[in-house]
Amino acid sequence: MSGEKRFSGRVALVTGAAGNIGLATARRLAEDGADIVLLDIAADKLAEAKDAVATFGTRVETATCDVTDFASVDAAVARAEELLGPVALLFNNAGYQGAFTPIQDYSPEDFAKVIQIDLIGAFHVLRAVSARMVAHGFGRIVNTASMAGLQGPPNMGAYAAAKFGIVGLTQTASKDLAPHNIRVNGIAPALMGPGFMWDRQVELQAKAGTQYFSSDPEEVSKAMIGSVPMRRLGDISEIPGVVSFLMGEDSSYMTGVTLPISGGIL
Ligand SMILES: NC(=O)c1ccc[n+]([C@@H]2O[C@H](COP(=O)([O-])OP(=O)(O)OC[C@H]3O[C@@H](n4cnc5c(N)ncnc54)[C@H](O)[C@@H]3O)[C@@H](O)[C@H]2O)c1
Repeated sequence: MSGEKRFSGRVALVTGAAGNIGLATARRLAEDGADIVLLDIAADKLAEAKDAVATFGTRVETATCDVTDFASVDAAVARAEELLGPVALLFNNAGYQGAFTPIQDYSPEDFAKVIQIDLIGAFHVLRAVSARMVAHGFGRIVNTASMAGLQGPPNMGAYAAAKFGIVGLTQTASKDLAPHNIRVNGIAPALMGPGFMWDRQVELQAKAGTQYFSSDPEEVSKAMIGSVPMRRLGDISEIPGVVSFLMGEDSSYMTGVTLPISGGIL
C-alpha cells in the first residue's frame, strides 16, 4: 500500500520521552509511522514534546508517570492502550546519571535513587508492558543501558551497577519473552555531546579528584575524546536510527543484544 511506513499501525511507548534521547527517538518512531505514547515524570515538558512528535502526523498521547512507582506505570500503560490500542514497541529509556563520587564516599541515598530509577524503574516498565505484549502476541523492546553498563567507569558506581543490571535484564527478558514473539534488545550509548549531559559529566569527573582524570574539565574532555577510536563525541541524532533498526524487521534474528553506540569499543 502506498504511504505505508515501517511502523504504520503500530503503537510505540517511550519513557524518558521529555529528555534528549527519548524525544529524538519518539520523533524518529513517529516519522517511521508509529502512533506514540510519551511517558515522563516531567509534566511541564511533555506538552512541548508532544508538539514536536505530532509534526509527523501520527497520533500522540502523553502520560505523566514516575517509573519508580509500579502502580503509576501500570495505570499509564493501561490508559495508553485505551486511547491508542495495543503497545507493540517499547523504548524503555528513562534514566538518571547520579553522582560522580568514588565508591568509598558514595552517598547511600543517591545510590538507592539511581537504582530505583534506572533499574527498578526499567523493570516496572518492562513488567507492565511485556505482560500486555504477551497477551497481544507481539512486541519489540529496546532498553537503554550505557557503555557504563558494559565496563564500570570510575566514580559512577550506582550508574554502572544499574546499567549492568539493564544488560542482564535484557538478556533474561529476551529468553522469557522469545516464545511470545517478543524481541528484547538494548543500546549502550556513550560520550554523547556537546550538551548538558556531557558538560556535567566532564565537570563532575574533574571535581571527583581521582587519579583517572585531571582536575581541569577541558583536559578531562580531551582525554575522554582521545579514548574514542573515532576521536569525536557522538550526537544524539546518531541514536534513534539504531533503536528503529532494533524494533524493525531488519533485525529479525536479534534478541538479547545490547549494542554499543560509542564511536568504537572503548
Ligand atoms: N546522554 C548520554 O550521554 C547518555 C549516555 C548513555 C546512556 N544514557 C541513558 O539514556 C537515557 C536517556 O538519557 P538522556 O541523555 O536523554 O537524559 P535526559 O535527562 O535528557 O532524559 C531523561 C528523562 O528521564 C526522565 N525521568 C527521570 N526520572 C524519571 C522517573 N522517575 N520517572 C519517569 N521519568 C523519569 C527525565 O524527566 C528526563 O526527561 C537514560 O537512561 C540515560 O541513562 C545517556
